[in-house]
Amino acid sequence: MTRRGPSHRRQAGDPQASAPRVDQVTWLPSRLPASAGRTFVVTGGNAGLGYFVSEQLASTGAHVVLASRSLERAAAAQQRIRENVPGASLDAVQLDLADFASIRRAGEALAEYGRLDGLVLNAGITSGSRWREITRDGHEMTVGTNYIGHFLLTALAWPALARTAGSRVVTLGSLATVQVPLDADDLQSERKYSFWRSYGFSKHMAQGFGFELDRRARAAGRDVTTVVSHPGLSLDTLSKRREGINDVTPLARVALTPMAAAAQGKNRGAAPIVRAALDPSLVGGEYVGPQYLLKGRPVLQQPVESSASPEFGRRLWELSEDWTGRTFEV
Ligand SMILES: NC(=O)c1ccc[n+]([C@@H]2O[C@H](COP(=O)([O-])OP(=O)(O)OC[C@H]3O[C@@H](n4cnc5c(N)ncnc54)[C@H](OP(=O)(O)O)[C@@H]3O)[C@@H](O)[C@H]2O)c1
Repeated sequence: MTRRGPSHRRQAGDPQASAPRVDQVTWLPSRLPASAGRTFVVTGGNAGLGYFVSEQLASTGAHVVLASRSLERAAAAQQRIRENVPGASLDAVQLDLADFASIRRAGEALAEYGRLDGLVLNAGITSGSRWREITRDGHEMTVGTNYIGHFLLTALAWPALARTAGSRVVTLGSLATVQVPLDADDLQSERKYSFWRSYGFSKHMAQGFGFELDRRARAAGRDVTTVVSHPGLSLDTLSKRREGINDVTPLARVALTPMAAAAQGKNRGAAPIVRAALDPSLVGGEYVGPQYLLKGRPVLQQPVESSASPEFGRRLWELSEDWTGRTFEV
């Protein structure tokens, strides 16, 4: 497996193109930059990593919109965030990423925002069926939810991102891209299916989309930056307790104890995602993950070459326009 350095994204003409990239070791997840007046949308903001991303962004004074499948679960998450961040500015929008009609309603609402500083494409299915299932619109369920739905949402929300100076898109990749080789001819697992294979493909696509979106935005002269992130191995069982959000049984805690040394809680796993959304020193197309791969502070890392390749990005874009029936003009 070949990986490329974080400078893979730079192009001729970029003033930093020949300089080695030095990470900003001064980035501290505990001291986030004040962001009052800015608006972020977090898909899957009601649970898991998305909950902690929302809570941490809200702690900066930003307005945070939880895009959730269930408005009831989003309301419960807003209540918990307010308990931990008094005065948090929050809202919710209904979004089912496995349903184009729901994505269209949410995306059209986001497009009307006066400003949209960040769209965090976090939601995802992380464990799934032993059999291939499909979304309402006929796409393989894991790829449809984790990637295709996010492509459509971003295309629809793009006007608000494009009119907001310095806005960001953050996509959620995974180390599954290291373990699952990309099969670009079977992206929706029509030939062969296992959940893990399909999950790996969905994350190759989430990464590939992030890098391609950044290339296209740059080429079009847009002031929109895309950063790809991954949270290592982040578990509810190791997370800060948030009642009603990440309740786990004592048995589950004990069962996962052997993994505790290698993994981290989702409150820490949120750090690379939050850094990708907020750190002004990041360059578009960079890849942020935990220092020790599965856990640790958020640092610049190297994505697998297959999902970072411009050829894959171009092909994926064409396929995604075809799958969603939506032309995405950046
Ligand atoms: N945890 C890790 O170690 C890890 C590692 C690598 C990458 N990631 C990525 O990080 C992201 C979050 O993972 P997580 O561990 O936080 O997962 P999680 O705890 O299972 O949370 C998943 C979130 O996605 C939402 N979601 C699922 N299907 C949806 C749909 N059809 N429409 C809208 N929202 C939907 C869930 O909403 P409901 O509450 O309605 O189910 C929930 O809010 C995923 O993209 C995952 O691939 C996680």
